[in-house]
Amino acid sequence: MKKPSDSWGSRTGLILAMAGNAVGLGNFLRFPVQAIQNGGGTFIIPYLICFLVMGIPLLFTEWSIGRFGGKRGNHSTPYILGSMSNSNWWKYIGVFGIFTNVAVVAYYTYIESWTFIYVIHTLVGTFTPMSQSEVSMFFIHYVNLEGSDFGIPYLPVIVYMVVLGINVYILSTGLGGIEKVAKIGMPLLILFGTVLAYKGWSMGAGYASETFPDANAWDGINFLWTPQYTSLLDPKVWLSAAGQIFFTLSVGMGSIQCYASYLKENEDIALNSLTSGFTNELVEIVLGSAIVIPIAAGFLGLDWVLDNAGFGMAFQTMPYLFIQWGELFGMVAGICWFGLLFFAGITSSLAMGTPWMGFMKDEFGWGKVKGAVSFGVLALLMGLPTILFYRYGYFDEYDYWAGTVSLVVFALLEMLLFTWVFGIDNAWSELNRGADLIIPGIYRWIMKYITPLLLVLVLVGALITPMGNDWGGAIAGLLNGEGWMLDPGSLVSKISHQDLQLLMKNDPLHKEFYTNKMFFSSLARIQLITLFLFIALLVWYSGTKRKQISHE
Ligand code: PHE
Repeated sequence: MKKPSDSWGSRTGLILAMAGNAVGLGNFLRFPVQAIQNGGGTFIIPYLICFLVMGIPLLFTEWSIGRFGGKRGNHSTPYILGSMSNSNWWKYIGVFGIFTNVAVVAYYTYIESWTFIYVIHTLVGTFTPMSQSEVSMFFIHYVNLEGSDFGIPYLPVIVYMVVLGINVYILSTGLGGIEKVAKIGMPLLILFGTVLAYKGWSMGAGYASETFPDANAWDGINFLWTPQYTSLLDPKVWLSAAGQIFFTLSVGMGSIQCYASYLKENEDIALNSLTSGFTNELVEIVLGSAIVIPIAAGFLGLDWVLDNAGFGMAFQTMPYLFIQWGELFGMVAGICWFGLLFFAGITSSLAMGTPWMGFMKDEFGWGKVKGAVSFGVLALLMGLPTILFYRYGYFDEYDYWAGTVSLVVFALLEMLLFTWVFGIDNAWSELNRGADLIIPGIYRWIMKYITPLLLVLVLVGALITPMGNDWGGAIAGLLNGEGWMLDPGSLVSKISHQDLQLLMKNDPLHKEFYTNKMFFSSLARIQLITLFLFIALLVWYSGTKRKQISHE
């Protein structure tokens, strides 16, 4: 019944595209911040364990169910999951695998657009005469839509649309285009990253300034790479480590399943999935940790880095630091840095476009151009408010619900489907069919019991995080009859906006700001729910169409 679909051109192309999907802004922007916020060396062990017992099993699962679905003509999670059980409900769980991509791409492309304009600013020397605080303010003006660079009002919106347009154009050329971008982007990214990492590692203490006489790049490197065992019992560190593994490997999203659905029937999964997963980890651990942290520590000292860890470091601090290397090398470094981020970003945002396009093609026969353009329109509708209301946390709201919580929920459900409903025997033989590598038998056991259990723990941990993350104290309190005090960061508190109410109480001068924030956060949630329901409606409608066809 189904027409033959697109497929990957070559094994190298497939691996580069999958690695490009995984290697993204998460590796260079999110990882260093998570590592610092969770104590550096204390983060690394939970992080690596999460990679082995959650990341790898999820990669195996997603590659397997993707290839399984693709063989049956399904290229997005609603019907991939639907084809693995007799129950009608799994296709609605599969809605997550389209929803998350559209919601995440909306703000992800916004960051991508910053990297794009920052390459141009570096080239024309915008940052050269600026002081550190001017560089930093430049970014704040940009995201608050206050500046009008190059005399163009609403430039951030325009740049966003241009970058989205580039994505739409590449998507409209199909898998071939995606493969081509990965083949150019991945090597360039590694080259740029290596230049910067080399500089970071070789900086030493030579850059001490009067304000930061003790600054030393090696402090940053040692901070990350001196393992500490105390954190092994801290659930907060585990939650952050698991969250980072999810985001960086792109698992729980639906895009890996989609890419894998274009594999051939007996094409290897075991070795391919591990190769792309390990490539991602290599880039994250070697390059991701060797740029922002050591360079900032080299100039400004480790204490400064610890106090200022955040997303802004990449855009508010790095451009200034690069200039301190002299005009020419400063420019080279700036282009390497923002160019690297751009390539990392675009190979990931392209991946997020494919589940929607695959779905519309399978169910409604939409071709590549129609699929890509409709994806662009949806992303724009979701993305515009994140730009316009950035300062009220619209962006963060998307990142929390779609970019974090949904991933874990969906990963847990698909894992249960694969190893329990579809059954571990079927799952194991599906995974091993055509394998170029023998997977250790222990993974059979890990996939069935350990990974789902850990996912449940992560979810429960996030739902009811106790005050101050003090689990021992909270459990003792519960036994004493004192009840369970929720942390404002817990999922339950967030749902009811208790986190914002607390901030408002502690900062009465900014009451109006927090009231606005609450309003926009509710609006963002309504928008996310609407998107989810819209996709669910399409799935329902496609289901009625499928029934008609099978009755005819
Ligand atoms: N893994 C990407 C990153 O590290 C993000 C991503 C998530 C990409 C989901 C595609 C799908 O930035």
